[in-house]
Amino acid sequence: MPAFQTSPGTRDILPPESGQFRRLVDVFATLAERAGFGLIIPPMFEDLGVFQRIGEATDIVSKEMYDFVDKGGRHIALRPEQTAGVVRAFVQHRPVLPWKTWYAGPNFRYESAQKGRYRQFDQVGVEALGVDDPYLDVEVITLAWRFFEALGLRQVTLLLNSLGEPDDRARYREALRVYFEGRAGELTEDGRLTLGRNPLRLLDSKREQDLLVVAGAPQLGAFRSQASTDHFATVQAGLRALGVPFVLAPNLVRGLDYYRRTTFELVADALDAAQNAVGGGGRYDGLAEDLGGPSTPGVGFALGVDRTLLACESEGVFAAPASVLDVFVVDTTGGASALTVAERLRTAGIRTDRAFENRSMKSQMRAADRSGAAVAVIIGTNELAAGQLTVRPLRHTGEDALQRTVADHELVDEVRALLSTSYEPLPARQHHS
Ligand code: HAM
Repeated sequence: MPAFQTSPGTRDILPPESGQFRRLVDVFATLAERAGFGLIIPPMFEDLGVFQRIGEATDIVSKEMYDFVDKGGRHIALRPEQTAGVVRAFVQHRPVLPWKTWYAGPNFRYESAQKGRYRQFDQVGVEALGVDDPYLDVEVITLAWRFFEALGLRQVTLLLNSLGEPDDRARYREALRVYFEGRAGELTEDGRLTLGRNPLRLLDSKREQDLLVVAGAPQLGAFRSQASTDHFATVQAGLRALGVPFVLAPNLVRGLDYYRRTTFELVADALDAAQNAVGGGGRYDGLAEDLGGPSTPGVGFALGVDRTLLACESEGVFAAPASVLDVFVVDTTGGASALTVAERLRTAGIRTDRAFENRSMKSQMRAADRSGAAVAVIIGTNELAAGQLTVRPLRHTGEDALQRTVADHELVDEVRALLSTSYEPLPARQHHS
């Protein structure tokens, strides 16, 4: 056992998974930028107060925050999510509205660590401020949906709800409180604690016994104002018009307090029920004001990158390990030729690695095979003397798999021709083309 290992709830993301991770972020960036969202990179830690606006009663604020007092005496927290920081940035910089941003990066929550639930995890997401229009909700939700489609995930369900305006919600919360208090004896101990803190959170309880009581609870729909009901109807019609399938989930309240009206969650059916939410979002029209800014509507979502990768794995979407190399340079003449040849290939845009320490031909060829490269470029004493190089395909697709010796100036063209014609395209090249 080495003396140091990753802390519980954190993990090293190594190749080839890291390549899949990056591809996932690339796909997200492409879709977000195509829809007019610009990249925002907020800091990973902020004044604790920023995150307290997520809701003092939420688990991520009350139980899971990584907070500390820094050397200057400021009470700081590592961000548990990015919406609060993005809205703080909006209030601080007051950009022109509407302001549409996307982000990618790590978040920190002191959760009980298990597969799919980490203490440091990555999200990609968007936040759009300054527009009340339900068609923006549709645009945002559709972006999340198209992202999973683009990855090739098939078993994702979109759950949709509207929490109504704060007034609707307050009346509903009161009705729930009265209902649950009348049946408190039937709830679990934990259920009764939740009831004391926030009766809404009982609705998405995962405990069977509590769910029996939830089944008879009043429904939010009856408490929604006409304006909220109309807004929600337009969101649904918009999603239908774009062919984005959704399931109405009247008990979906989400774990953060800032939501109003539209809320949604994306669930990957291929994952265990306890960690199957691959993303969630909604409207947070009061958050800018809570953070000291002008009253400004906002809507957004965040998707969990780690869980999405797990879902891709269980659906076999990333089945082929992505090769990271096109060429491996073998040089048995000391290594100085490999230095310049590798540099030339890399400058030409060809992914190239090489052997070091002037090992034997056999050992270097083994390294070439292990590297996953499609082609080996070999420099031995004969080649060096003649100003030539040997180009040897490593992954055969037929009779053209023979090696050839080429003049120095022909190398790049020869390698390019081999990579594009004689061989199965590498998985990584296929994704990027
Ligand atoms: P959230 O539901 O707390 O929402 O997190 C969004 C997603 O992040 C989850 O669905 C899940 O995939 C992933 N996630 C959360 N916690 C963990 C964890 N401990 N380990 C692995 N993955 C995790 C938010 O964060 C809101 N800021 C979303 C939002 C944006 N609402 C409006 N704008």
